Amino acid sequence: MFVVPDSLLLDAAQQINNRCSWRRYTSAQISQQLLEQLDDLITIINQYQQNFKIIRLTEAGNLLSPLYVQVIRGATNVIVFEVLNENRPLVDIQMGCLGELLVLQMTRLGLSTVWLGGDKFCFSSSDIKKRVGTQNSIPICIPFGYPVDPKVDIRKRKSKKDIAPEWTGSEEVFQLINRAPSAVNKQPYQFQLKDNKIYITPKDKSTNEYMSNWLDSGIAASHALLAMNLKQVSVAQNEVIIE
Ligand SMILES: Cc1cc2nc3c(=O)[nH]c(=O)nc-3n(C[C@H](O)[C@H](O)[C@H](O)COP(=O)(O)O)c2cc1C
Repeated sequence: MFVVPDSLLLDAAQQINNRCSWRRYTSAQISQQLLEQLDDLITIINQYQQNFKIIRLTEAGNLLSPLYVQVIRGATNVIVFEVLNENRPLVDIQMGCLGELLVLQMTRLGLSTVWLGGDKFCFSSSDIKKRVGTQNSIPICIPFGYPVDPKVDIRKRKSKKDIAPEWTGSEEVFQLINRAPSAVNKQPYQFQLKDNKIYITPKDKSTNEYMSNWLDSGIAASHALLAMNLKQVSVAQNEVIIE
């Protein structure tokens, strides 16, 4: 169980509809002041739990081009997630939930982002591991910066009957949760509202891969707590509970 720090929740719900994934970035520098604000948020997350650590890298564009075809273009700033403790699926859920709250705070600061789990395709986890000097897992990273052609492009999400067939809450809350990003936009879970709690059930409960359905469920959990003004996330055998 974990209770999300207040500083990550500040104005975050209002950012949900301002965020989308960006894959092309300009060469504009990010001010030192903005980077310090970001570092303060990263420190809060790192001090708050011991299961993973967020590391901010500069001049990291080379780590994002493992192939000739560059999927992510122009980004030089990247945050990476180093797994410190194989406490699963809790670490998956924490990386998803706290990571997405950080993404929404970055959106508030005017920065654009994209979650990346496509190791060897969109980034090289082995090169990142060499650069930060760890043997531990680097399952995901998030490039960030200023976007080329900034306009929010809202990708289609699943319908209510597919993702929340027993939904009894408001349309607004449903939409805020349904806007959560997920790997390949698969939204690999269902969610429902019961007694003012949100239950998110991943389709595949395995923890073989770090790009697990639990990670995507953790991302959705952050949207659920913002949409419902809740703070606590706990993990049961088959689901994530937000209350
Ligand atoms: C855990 C995770 C991993 C992702 N990995 C990649 C990736 O490797 N390459 C990529 O281009 N996009 C990646 N994405 C971005 C998703 O494709 C995107 O979030 C989804 O299509 C929804 O679009 P939106 O973020 O614009 O709302 C990833 C997203 C998540 C949440």
